[in-house]
Amino acid sequence: MIEAIRKRRSIRNFLKRDVEEEKLNEVLKAAMFSPNSWGTRPWEFIVVRAEETKKALAKASPHAGFVDKAPVVIVVCFDTKKGKRFKEDSAIAAEHIHLEAVNQGLASCFVQIADAGDPPGTAEPLVKELLGIPEDCRVMCLMPLGYAARELKEHADSEYDPVKVHLERF
Ligand SMILES: Cc1cc2nc3c(=O)[nH]c(=O)nc-3n(C[C@H](O)[C@H](O)[C@H](O)COP(=O)(O)O)c2cc1C
Repeated sequence: MIEAIRKRRSIRNFLKRDVEEEKLNEVLKAAMFSPNSWGTRPWEFIVVRAEETKKALAKASPHAGFVDKAPVVIVVCFDTKKGKRFKEDSAIAAEHIHLEAVNQGLASCFVQIADAGDPPGTAEPLVKELLGIPEDCRVMCLMPLGYAARELKEHADSEYDPVKVHLERF
């Protein structure tokens, strides 16, 4: 596990190579194995491959501009009728996507949609309108998925900072 965690970097450039359906399914399975508050499994995932839609998603936030370079974009949504912990449940599912992507030889990046955009808060309604997401659903992030055009340096032991660890009291 620590190997995948070390390798996981935010990748923003992708090869023009499609993601195999089996790999995509494993990534989505990992998302649905996430811990979730009260076991309500409140997530919904939209898989976007259409070029025009990806281009529109790339315009949702000033920090999303590269998502159309990925062959697949997974949109991580949350049904507020089912769950109460939007941010926690969605972010954990996104991280499962990120790590299983690495395990499958793929790469991703967490691209914030909730509270994002210019001005802030405009990204989510834009994505909801574009993808026909119901009123009761929130959108946390986009997870572009593909083969990295260039690998980034793995996380290193030097990033472990013992000063950040407090024994018994802060
Ligand atoms: C909550 C959250 C929001 C993020 N939003 C964006 C984003 O909108 N666009 C982007 O390119 N990267 C985004 N990132 C990725 C971070 O920039 C990245 O994780 C950080 O720089 C550390 O680099 P690493 O993931 O390669 O270790 C986000 C990450 C998190 C956890």
